[in-house]
Order: sequence, then C-alpha cells, then structure tokens
Amino acid sequence: MNTKTTRITPEQVDEQLAFCDQIHALWTARGITPKAYVETYGCQQNEADSERIRGMLAQAGYAICDQAEGADVVVMNTCAIREHAEQRVFGNLGALTHTKRRHEGQKIFLCGCMAGQEHVVERIKKSYPHVDGVFSTHHLWEFPSLLYRTLTVKKRVYATADEAGSIAEGLPVVRSGGLKAWVSIMYGCNNFCTYCIVPYVRGRERSRLPEDVLAECRELIASGVKDITLLGQNVNSYGKDLGLGVDFADLLSMIAELPGEFLIRFMTSHPRDASHKLFDTMAKYPKIAKQLHLPFQSGSSRVLKAMNRHYDREQYLELVNYAKSVMPGLVLTSDVIVGFPGETAEEFEETLTLIEQVRYDSLFTFIFSPRKGTPAASMEDPTPKQEKNERFDRLCALQNAISEEIHNEYVGKTFRCLVDGTDRGHITARTEGGRLVRFEGSEDLIGTWQNITITGSTTWSLVGEMNNE
Ligand code: SAH
Ligand code: SF4
Ligand code: F3S
Repeated sequence: MNTKTTRITPEQVDEQLAFCDQIHALWTARGITPKAYVETYGCQQNEADSERIRGMLAQAGYAICDQAEGADVVVMNTCAIREHAEQRVFGNLGALTHTKRRHEGQKIFLCGCMAGQEHVVERIKKSYPHVDGVFSTHHLWEFPSLLYRTLTVKKRVYATADEAGSIAEGLPVVRSGGLKAWVSIMYGCNNFCTYCIVPYVRGRERSRLPEDVLAECRELIASGVKDITLLGQNVNSYGKDLGLGVDFADLLSMIAELPGEFLIRFMTSHPRDASHKLFDTMAKYPKIAKQLHLPFQSGSSRVLKAMNRHYDREQYLELVNYAKSVMPGLVLTSDVIVGFPGETAEEFEETLTLIEQVRYDSLFTFIFSPRKGTPAASMEDPTPKQEKNERFDRLCALQNAISEEIHNEYVGKTFRCLVDGTDRGHITARTEGGRLVRFEGSEDLIGTWQNITITGSTTWSLVGEMNNE
C-alpha cells in the first residue's frame, strides 16, 4: 500500500475548476439550470466533505436542492462505521432507481467511506447498475472531471484506487452551518483501533499546513461565523507529519489569538495523545470553548488493550481529572462501545463505574458492529446479542440519569450563550459547552451573545430567560 500523502497542486485544482466551467457551459447551451442533491451520512468529517461537493456543484452551475426527486445529480456521501449505517445507504440507493426512472439523465454518485471498501465497490458494480460513479474520499477533489465524464462519455466511472490519501486546498465550498462552521485540520487516521474501519477507508494521517488553516479561520470570522469546530479523527496528532514544530495545542493558540468575537471547539481528541499542554492551552484562552469530547470506548484496561487504544483506565482517569482541575465547569462528552468481542460481564461493569466516576454531560453509545477486514471482526465473540442489548440499555439508563442530574444543576445559574436559531416558536441558543437552551425572545438576537439564566431542564435540553442585568 502506498503510504505517502499526495499533495494536490494548485494547477490540478484549477484543472478541476475548468471542468466545472465546461459542465456549466453544457447546461447553459441547453438553457437549463440543473439541480443537485447531496445526501450525507456519518460524522462531521463527511458533513465538511459534502460542503466541498456542493461547492464544486455550485461552481458548475447547479442549484443545490433538498431532495433526490427531480435532481440532475444525486450524490450519496456515505459512512461505513457500523453495519446499520451501510444498510441504510444500500436501501436508499436502491430506492433511487425510481427517481432515476422518473427523471431521465439523472446521474447518481456514491462517495465517502463506503466507497473506500473494495467489496462495496464490487457490489455496486454488480448489483446497482443505476449508479453512474463511485469515488473514495481520496478522490473527492476530482469530482468535477468524473461528473463531466458521466455527462459526455455516458460510461460509469470509478475513482477508488487504494491510496494513502490526498490534501487539496482551494476547492470551492457551500457552507450550511450559518453561524457555525467546520474546518478540517487533518485527514485520515494511523491508530488502527481493532474495531474501526476509518484508517482503511480514509488513509494515513495527514495535516493541512497551519497557514492554510489560519487563512480559512480568518475568512470565516470575517464572514460572520462565530463558532468554529476544528475536525480530525485524532486532532491531537496534528502536525506530526509536517515536521514544522507546530502541534495541535500550538495551532489552537494561533487561532485563539486571531482578532474577533468567536469560539473554537474541536473533535476528536484521542486520549492516547491528549496532553496537559493541550488542556492548559484550552484553559488559557477564553476563545477556546470549555468543551471536550474524549472517547473512552471501555472502562476495562483489558478491553482497551484488545481495542489497541494505547491507554488504560487509570491513565484515562488521570487525564480527565487534570482537564477538570484546570477547567472548572468543563463540559465533557465521550464515545463508548458495548459488547466488544470477549467483553465479560465484569468488564462491562467497569465501563459503568467509569461513567459514574467521570459523570459525562452526554455520551454517544454504540453496540459493537464487526467491520470486514478489521482485526476485531475475527475475534471470538461468545456474548449473545440479547445480553449485549441488555448491557446497552443499562448503560443508556445510567447515562440518562446522570445527564438529567447535571442539567438540573444548571437551573438558577446564568450562562453566556450564542443565540443561533429558532425551534417551534422558541429562540435557541448554545452555552459555551454546546448545551441547547430554549428561551422567549426576538429573532433579531440571532448571531449575538446573551446572558441567559436557566429556569428549567430535561435530560436533553435547557429552558431559560434572558438576563440583561
Ligand atoms: N476518531 C474518533 C472516532 C471516530 S468513529 C476517535 O477515535 O475517537 C466514532 C465512534 O464510533 C468511535 O469513537 C466508536 O465509539 C464508534 N465505533 C467505531 N467503530 C465501531 C464499530 N465497529 N462498532 C461500534 N462502534 C464503533
Ligand atoms: Fe477509528 Fe481509532 Fe482512528 Fe478513531 S482513532 S478513527 S476509533 S482507528
Ligand atoms: Fe463514518 Fe467515515 Fe465518519 S466511516 S463516522 S463517515 S470517517
């Protein structure tokens, strides 16, 4: 396997933009404004990629619409993290045979993480003849030329060759987050946790240059964005491949020192590389949100070893305690997997006690799903599904009780919140830690920071009123 990052040159990007112009010309000659629909599955990384895909489509003259029906191009940006995610995609992809029948010339593309798996590409080739093109995440920047080919040569196109991965700067983007924006700072992953498909489908870890990240942040702040989330599968190893002496904490400081009123947050932070320096940096800058997503996956050191996570229960707890000590009021979230192959009842209890000890604000909970080609998929897994489901339910009940208690503790306190939208007649805002607050107010407040006193709470959200004293 090639392990070297391909840096796409500005000339190569320009070539793709020229394809956008050619596609635009094809449609203009027919006197039509074409429509494009992009459907996104999976994580924020995919959301960010979809914004680039929409950017390229807009540049090619497409109006972005919100359904496959009647669209001239449909792009399914897929996720491979669990079997359920893949099944949903195959189901929805099958249904597109009907939209295509009703709209002659509709072009259908499948991209994202599923497109990085050979067996998926083979299945598409064989059983989904209505799909016109497949491209993996490494080939996203080539989408304009692929689309052009399907429009002119009328052949199916595939760009899925196994590569270490690419970095392309300067692709157009259509952002959909309003006051919030994603900024990818790195791509890929080198960790090879034994259950996880991501390193296989997204290639090796590679970082964008600090100046490119800073330029994008500056631009976003100038355009009125107030909340920037830096993205990477493992942001804490940012910069290791660059050899510039700039690590993730340094990058965060540089962004936090940019002028303007905004907040930065980031995900995901792997406990293996999370450092005291990172938490000290977070504590130092008011512009860095005091929110941390630090996946623990299991409370058992034996299971963590089998997962290839490179930390144990004690090291994880030490990290969390340090982070909490330098950032009182830190909002802490995490990911956890229930039913990893061979997880015993006692080991599962260790996961529960870790949750009780840490008291997360909220958790993303998953039942282990075997992924073809990963080591865990061939590990012995004697625990019956029913038992895993019971463990999962117990874990969720425990976390819900904790989330509710923590939310109760918000009542009576006042928080500075970013007013970000409306929801069923209420105005919505987010605390610095990302908690949702509903309150009565005017839509003119959207985009401003307000002090809100919390008056009520549920497991999932908070209610408050503006406090202008
Ligand atoms: N890079 C991030 C995680 C990305 S995937 C990190 O290391 O924290 C998001 C979450 O999906 C993981 O944290 C894990 O909890 C879950 N996950 C990944 N593979 C899975 C699998 N095969 N089965 C169940 N959950 C899985
Ligand atoms: Fe997957 Fe582990 Fe990489 Fe996260 S760090 S993307 S869980 S391999
Ligand atoms: Fe899914 Fe790929 Fe993200 S597998 S979770 S979309 S990195």
